[in-house]
Amino acid sequence: MNENAFDPAAWARLEGPSPMPGVEERAENRFPAWWDDVASAQIGVVGSPNSTERMSADILMDKTKESLVGEWIAIPFVQDGVDTLTVGQIMSVEMRNDLLEGTTARSIVSRLGKIPASASEDLYRAEIQVTATFARSSKEHGRTVLPSMMGTVPPSGTPVCLVDNAFIERLFAKQTDDLFFLGTAYSGAKERRILLPTWVRHFRSGEGGAGDTYHMGIFGKTGSGKSVLAKLLLLGFARHPETSVFILDPQGEFSRDAWNLPSNDEGFRLKWGEVVENDFGKRLVLVPLRNLVLDSWDLFKDVIGQAVLFQWLGYPRGEKRALAAELLSISLQKAGFALNRLASREAFDEVGKAVCDESFVKRVYVSDSATAKLQQAVGYWEVPSIKEDLWRAWSSMASLFDDKRPGTVSVSALVEEVVTSGKVVVVNLSREGLEAGTSIAAGSRNILWNEEIQGMLILRLLSSLRERGEIAYLKGKRLNTMVVLDEAHRFIPRGTLDGQKEAIRDLLVEASRETRKYGIGWLLVSQTLASLHPEVVSQLRVLLVGYGLNSGSELQALRELSGGDQRAISIYQRFPDPHAALEPSSREYNFMLLGPISPLAFSGQPLFLSAFTDPHSFLFANGLGGKSDEPA
Ligand SMILES: Nc1ncnc2c1ncn2[C@@H]1O[C@H](COP(=O)(O)OP(=O)(O)O)[C@@H](O)[C@H]1O
Ligand SMILES: [Mg+2]
Repeated sequence: MNENAFDPAAWARLEGPSPMPGVEERAENRFPAWWDDVASAQIGVVGSPNSTERMSADILMDKTKESLVGEWIAIPFVQDGVDTLTVGQIMSVEMRNDLLEGTTARSIVSRLGKIPASASEDLYRAEIQVTATFARSSKEHGRTVLPSMMGTVPPSGTPVCLVDNAFIERLFAKQTDDLFFLGTAYSGAKERRILLPTWVRHFRSGEGGAGDTYHMGIFGKTGSGKSVLAKLLLLGFARHPETSVFILDPQGEFSRDAWNLPSNDEGFRLKWGEVVENDFGKRLVLVPLRNLVLDSWDLFKDVIGQAVLFQWLGYPRGEKRALAAELLSISLQKAGFALNRLASREAFDEVGKAVCDESFVKRVYVSDSATAKLQQAVGYWEVPSIKEDLWRAWSSMASLFDDKRPGTVSVSALVEEVVTSGKVVVVNLSREGLEAGTSIAAGSRNILWNEEIQGMLILRLLSSLRERGEIAYLKGKRLNTMVVLDEAHRFIPRGTLDGQKEAIRDLLVEASRETRKYGIGWLLVSQTLASLHPEVVSQLRVLLVGYGLNSGSELQALRELSGGDQRAISIYQRFPDPHAALEPSSREYNFMLLGPISPLAFSGQPLFLSAFTDPHSFLFANGLGGKSDEPA
C-alpha cells in the first residue's frame, strides 16, 4: 500500500463511546464495519474532471440501479500528509453511452428496436457538491476530528462511499451535545436516510452557543409542515438552560397543543409542553390574551375605538375610524378616566356623550354625512337593547385594560417573566385566547378580530421586550431570547399597505434590525418568501424552506438566497406534495436548509431535510421524552 493512501482502519480505531442517541444499534463495531465493508458501502470512484467545490464520481456498475440523488457520500484521502475526509451530497446523476451518440449507431438501434449487447456499456456519473471537509489530528494530538478545507482534489480512482448513521455518530462524537435532530437527510432511498445533524445554538458564547444573535425563517405553503417544524426548533432552543423562548401565537395553535392534543389532527402530535417541563425542567407559561392586561392608549384606540365602537357605529375603515378613536381617547382622558377604569358604566356614559355630540362627529366628518352618523349614534344610544349590546361588547373589551382583574399579567411583567431564568412563554393572540372559558368576553363575538389588532399587540409585546433588552444592554448584558412568530407574512408583508397596518409593519421591520444587538433573535414562520418584507428576509441567517414555493417570484427569491444554485433548486422542486401522498403514512415534510445550520455544510450550502414524521423518532433521536410518565 502506498504510504500516502488513506487507511480506513485507522479512522475506524477512533476511540471513545458513541454518545449520540437516535442511532439504533450503538454497538462499538458499527463504525469499523462501515470501513471494513467498504466494498458494499462504496458506490463509486472519483472520476474526472474535478474541482474543490464540485466533484464527479463514476458510479460502480452494480450500484447504477440505486436511487442516489440527495445521498450523502464521503471521500477519504490524504492532504498535507493528514488523513482527510471530504463529505458531500450527490446533486444529480447522469448517464452517458458514447457509443450510442453517433447517428449511425442510433439508426441501427432504431432499426433493431434494442441495443446490441456490445454497446450496452452505459456510464453513470454523479455530480457531487462538496460541503464539508474534516481532518484527523495525529496520535499525539488525540486523534480528534477537526474541520478542515479542501485544498486539493482526491486523485481519480479514490473510493466514494455512502455515509450512514454510524459514520455520522463517529465523526461528530465529540460534539453530540451540541447537535439537535429535526429529521433525516432527504434522499431518494428512504431506508438509507441518515439523521441530518443540525445545530440549534443559543445566542451567547460558551457551550452550545453561536456567540451571536441571529434570526431564522421557516417558509412553505399552508400544510407544508412549518408549524410542526417550528415546534421542533423551539425545543432545540429551549433545551439550552439559559435561553428563553417567547412565542407569539396568532392562531392559538402552539397554545392548544402544548398539552392537550387536538382531536381532529391526525398528523404530528407532540406534546411539546411536556418536553419543556419534564426534559428541560423549564417553566412553560401559557397566556391567553384575556389574561394579558393591555396597558396603553394606543392599544385602546386600536382595539376598542376602532374595532369595537366605530365599527359598530358604521364609520368606514381607515382614516375616519382612526381619527374618531383618537378623539374618543382624548375625551376619555380629559374626563379623568384611567385605562383601568374604562370598563365602568361611567366611562361608557362618557363614550355615549362623546359620540352623540355634534361637534365630535363634525370633527370626523366635514361633509353632510356627519348628520347621518350623528343620528345613527343617537339612535343606538336611545334603543335600550342596542345600547345594552354595545355596553356588553364595550365592557368585555375594556376589561382587558383593567389591571385589577384576578389572574392577569401586565405586558411588562410578562416580559420580565420571559427574560428571567430561561422560560418558555406563549401568548395566545387568537380570538380563542380572548374568549374561551370566560364571561368577560361575552358579547365579543361581534368584535372584529383582525390582523391589525393582532399586529398592534405583537408590536406592543416586542417593543416591551426590546426596551427590556436595551436596559440589559446598557448594563453590559444581553438577553438570550428567541421570539417565535407564526404567520409572519400577515404582519410583515412587502409593499404598500393601508393605514395603520403599514405603520405596524414598518415598526416590526425596524425592530428586527435592532433587537439582535440585545440578544433577541426571531424565528419567523411564513407562507411566502417573495412577499415577506425584503429587509426582514435579508436579515435571516438560516432559512428552512418547505414544499410549495413554486411560483415564479417565489422560486426567483429562493434562487437568489441559495446563491443561484440551480441544482439545489431542482431538488427543491422535486419535493413531493405532502398532501398528494397516497396514504397518510407515506407523507413527507421536506425542507431545503440554507445557512450555517449543520456541521455537514460549513459554508451554508443548501441541505435537504426530511422532518421526522412521528414524535417518537424526534424524541428518541434527541434523547428526550425519557422522563414522561406515559408510555410512548
Ligand atoms: N413532520 C411531520 N410529520 C407528520 N405530520 C406532519 C408533519 N408536519 C406537519 N404535519 C401535519 O401536516 C399538517 C399541516 O402541518 P402544519 O405544521 O400545521 O403546516 P403549516 O404550518 O405549514 O400550514 C398537520 O396536520 C400536521 O400535523
Ligand atoms: Mg402553520
